[in-house]
Amino acid sequence: MSPLKQLMAWLFGTLYIAGLPVLGQSYKYQSGPDFATVDAPILESKCLQCHNPNILKGEFSMATKEDILAAEDDFLIPGNAEDSMVHWITLPFEGEPPEMPNEGEPLSDNEAALLAEWINAGAHWPDGLVLKDVLA
Ligand code: HEC
Repeated sequence: MSPLKQLMAWLFGTLYIAGLPVLGQSYKYQSGPDFATVDAPILESKCLQCHNPNILKGEFSMATKEDILAAEDDFLIPGNAEDSMVHWITLPFEGEPPEMPNEGEPLSDNEAALLAEWINAGAHWPDGLVLKDVLA
């Protein structure tokens, strides 16, 4: 190898290795906020009180992803927060307060954004995680 080619090979090798953690980060970002630590507590404190296997307001539970998906097609559409009812129903609309939660504190802007990010990133829900009514 010529010295120039050697230099190029070294440079690309270094950039490649240095680039891996950066790619790792962007992958992490695309996977959205961590559901168990970020989104689950929001839903548990603001939704589970009325949407759990014992208290099925609106005739559905939000205890598991399967429960939500089994309710109506448009309640949770992984990858599409805008059309997912569990998200848009928490937003103020045309000057009206959000429909949900229909009692208690509404989601903060930040909480609503974190919910949207999680749905847009594919709504990953760890296997076996069952949400509970933390206010009970
Ligand atoms: C204090 C009780 C209460 C809380 C807390 C609550 N809900 Fe509801 N929810 C209801 C009731 C009652 C209904 C059914 C009547 C209605 O549609 O207003 C309902 C219905 C719904 C529906 C179905 C609406 C439809 O028209 O089919 C969705 C989606 C929903 N809730 C999402 C949420 C989300 C997301 C949260 C948390 C941010 C939440 N709810 C918190 C009481 C609650």
